[in-house]
Amino acid sequence: MKLSDKIIFGGDYNPEQWRETPEIWDEDMRLMRLAHWNEATLGVFSFAELEPEEGVFDFSVPDAIFEKAEQNGVKIILSTPSGAMPRWMAEKYPEILRTLDDRRKAVYGRRENHCLTSPVYREKVAEIDRKLSERYGKNPALLAWHISNEFNGECHCPLCRAAFCDFLEKKYGTVDRLNAAWWTRFWSHRANAFSEIEPPSPIGETCVHGLTLDWKRFVTAQTADFARAEIEAVRAFSDRPVTTNLMGFYQGLDYRELSKPFDFVSWDNYPVWGKPEGDEGTAAWTALTHDLMRSMKRENFLLMESTPSHTNWKDVNKLYRPGMMRLASLQALAHGSESVQYFQWRKSRGSSEKMHGAVVDHYGKEDTRVFGEVAALGEELEKLAPIVGSTPRPRVALLYDWDNVWALQDLQGMQKKNKQVGGALLRQYLPFWRAGISCDVIGRRESYEGYSLLVAPMTYLCEAETAKRLAAFVREGGTLVATYALAQTDENDLCHLGGFPGAGLSEVFGLRAEELDTLYPEERVKISALGESYLAKDYCEILKPEADTEILGVYESEFYAGTPCLTSHAYGKGRAYYIAFRDADGAFSGAFYRRLAGELGLESPLPEIPAGVSVQVRENEKGEAFLFVLNFSREERRVPLGREMTLLKNGEALSELVLPPYGGEVLRA
Ligand code: GAL
Repeated sequence: MKLSDKIIFGGDYNPEQWRETPEIWDEDMRLMRLAHWNEATLGVFSFAELEPEEGVFDFSVPDAIFEKAEQNGVKIILSTPSGAMPRWMAEKYPEILRTLDDRRKAVYGRRENHCLTSPVYREKVAEIDRKLSERYGKNPALLAWHISNEFNGECHCPLCRAAFCDFLEKKYGTVDRLNAAWWTRFWSHRANAFSEIEPPSPIGETCVHGLTLDWKRFVTAQTADFARAEIEAVRAFSDRPVTTNLMGFYQGLDYRELSKPFDFVSWDNYPVWGKPEGDEGTAAWTALTHDLMRSMKRENFLLMESTPSHTNWKDVNKLYRPGMMRLASLQALAHGSESVQYFQWRKSRGSSEKMHGAVVDHYGKEDTRVFGEVAALGEELEKLAPIVGSTPRPRVALLYDWDNVWALQDLQGMQKKNKQVGGALLRQYLPFWRAGISCDVIGRRESYEGYSLLVAPMTYLCEAETAKRLAAFVREGGTLVATYALAQTDENDLCHLGGFPGAGLSEVFGLRAEELDTLYPEERVKISALGESYLAKDYCEILKPEADTEILGVYESEFYAGTPCLTSHAYGKGRAYYIAFRDADGAFSGAFYRRLAGELGLESPLPEIPAGVSVQVRENEKGEAFLFVLNFSREERRVPLGREMTLLKNGEALSELVLPPYGGEVLRA
C-alpha cells in the first residue's frame, strides 16, 4: 500500500457548508498551506448538495475545490455521499428508510440511516457515484476513493428479511441443514421453509444462537455487497484505490469480511486521553486497535480521522493536553499508519458537531493553540517522510474474531452480560506492548505463516478446520498459548462433543477442561505459578491433564485447590500452553509472557523501557529501521538507547533520549 511519498496530512473538509461565503474557501487554502496540509477528504455526507432535487446535479463546489486544491498542493480523497441520504429521497422513496430491530420504521433523520437492500437506494447511489467517477476519477489531484462513511447498523425491513432468507438458502441448501445447524428442536423452533425465518428481534427470537450469528454474518455480507456496488460504480471511470473508514473494534460488522473488497484499510480513532487514572490503558488499547487495523490486510493503513483537540460526543469531552495530539499521531504512524488525518478542518456553524474539535475554530484565524500544534506537526511530518513504506514486522499474532465475540456475548452463561473479550485480548497484548514487541491481530481462519507465537484468548468458537490448522502450527514447531473457554463450540455455535477444548485440541494441549467456574466480580482465587503467587478473577477452569502435560501452576484456594491452572504440553516440534484462569491484575501475564518471549528469542528493541513508554519499530525493504519512542506518562522519562541512534527529524546523534511528559521521538536505528 503506497499512496504517496509523503506522510499524508489532512482530513475531513466540508466546503459545501460554506457555499454562501466562498471567500472562506480561499482562506481555507491559505490556512492549509500554513498547516502543511497535503490532503483533504471531500464530499463526506454531501448527497443533497450534489443532487439537490431528483435528477438535478450540482458539482460546483467540488469543481471549485478540486481546482483550488490542485493549485495549493492538496490532494483529494473523495468520498461517495451514501452515508446520509437527502431528505427529498426519503420523502419520495420511503423504502429507503431503515426498519429498526423492534420493527418500527424510522423517519428521516441522522446519517447511516438507509436500508442496505433497497434497490432504489442502491440505484441512486450508483448513479451519483458514477457521475463523480466520470467527473473526477482521473483528476491528478485525486488520491483515493472513500466509500460512504463508517458503515454501521442494520435494517429489519421486509426487503432485508427476504435477502436474509436467500442468504440462508444459499448457505444451507436445505432447511433441514439449517435446522440441524441451529439446533431448532429446542423449544420447538424448527422451520419448514427458509421463508419462515425472521431476523432476531427483542420482540421475537433471541434464543437461537445460530440464527443470531448468521444474521450478523448476513448484515456484514449485505454491507459488503452494498460497498461492492459502490466500488463498481466509482471504478466505472477511475482506477484510483478505494477504502472505507472503519471504527476499530466496532462490534456491528465483521471488519475482516467488510474490508475484503477494499484496496486498503483506513480507520477513525477517537481515544479518551487525559483520564484521571493516567493514559497507559488508553495508549495500550489504541495500540492494539491500530495493530488490528494493520493486520486486516497485513499492510499499512490510513488514520482517516482523529480529533486535533477534543470530541463532542463522549460523556466528558476533555481537551487534549499540549503534546497529546502529536503523541497520538506518532503512535498511529508507529503502528503502520501512512497518514495523520483529522475530523475536521473547520468547525461547522450549526447542528450536532458545531462544538467538535477542528483545526480551524469558529474564531477563524491561525493564532490558536490547536492550529499551532497542527501546523508544527505538519512541518515535522515532512521530515519524517523516510518512514513511508516501512512497516512493523511481527512474529507474534493474537487471534481475534468478530463471530467469536458475537457468540460469546450471546452465550447465556459465564458472566452473562459482559464477557469482556476485549479485556482478555488486551491482557495478553499488554506484556508485548510494554516490551516493544510488535503483534498482529489476525483471524483464526487466516494464514499463520511467519509467526513463531500464536495467542488465542477466549477462542470459544473454533471449528474443526481451525483446530486442525492450530494443531499443524504447533506440530511444525510453533508455540500456541490459549486461555480458558477454548474451542467449546463450532462455527454454528454448536457445542463440541467429547470434551473441551474440542475438535481435537485436547490432544494438542494434553488436557481436558472439565468445568468452568464463574466468580462474582469482587471474588479472587489464589494461584501459584512459575514460582510466584498471583490472583485470578472472573473465570477459573478445572483441568484434567494428561500424564505428559507439564504443570506450571496450580490453584491455591477453592474446592479445586491443588489442581492445575497453567500447563505446557509438547506436541510435535512445538509447544502448547494453557492458561485456565483470568489474571486479576496483569501481574501473572506480565511474568508469563516475559519468560516466554525470552525462550522464543522475541527481543525488546531497547535494553530498558520505562513505565508508560511505548517503543515500536517500523522496517523497510532496504533494511532500515525506525524506532518510535513515545512517553504516555505525565512525567519526564529518560530512555537509554543502548547504542548511538539519530533523531530522524534532524540527524542529531544520541545514546539516551529524554522525553518530556507526552513527548515522543522517531529514531533511525
Ligand atoms: C466520526 C465520523 C465523522 C464525525 C466524527 C466526530 O465517527 O465519521 O463524520 O462525525 O466521528 O468525531
